[in-house]
Amino acid sequence: MRILVVHGPNLNLLGEREPAVYGTLTLAQLDAYIAAHARTRGVAVRFYQSNHEGRLLDRLQAARRWADGVVINPGAYGHTSYALRDCIAGIRVPTVEVHLSDVEQREAFRRVSTIADVCIAKIGGRGKDSYTDAIDLLIERAGAAAAPAG
Ligand code: DQA
Repeated sequence: MRILVVHGPNLNLLGEREPAVYGTLTLAQLDAYIAAHARTRGVAVRFYQSNHEGRLLDRLQAARRWADGVVINPGAYGHTSYALRDCIAGIRVPTVEVHLSDVEQREAFRRVSTIADVCIAKIGGRGKDSYTDAIDLLIERAGAAAAPAG
């Protein structure tokens, strides 16, 4: 099974950005944690981060023939972007929306998700385990993890 993990805007600043909310792991450390988990589950993962909405769409579109699943932390674009929502609907790859923080318990604007209706689930408030839970959910949905692929 092959999973693309996408991080949206400002997630490149993890570690220094509002550590009380998002924790102290850097993005590289977070990706290493996710990769280690994926290895134990026999899943191939690729990572992508961008602060640019269009680049996120380009990467998601490019992955549509490679990925069996997508895990996306859309950052604030998940509260505002219909283009991202239409992209996820269009590529037809099962996608899980994740957030490090518990967006339901923060400001009202964070409770809005423009992408939730085209995702198979939304997982938040579990820090780095929001991502690993999302991977496990995609594996469960796919039936069983296929042999590791490149
Ligand atoms: C976030 C939550 C969003 O509201 C925020 O804009 C982010 C990070 C999270 O991971 O908790 O950039 O997606």
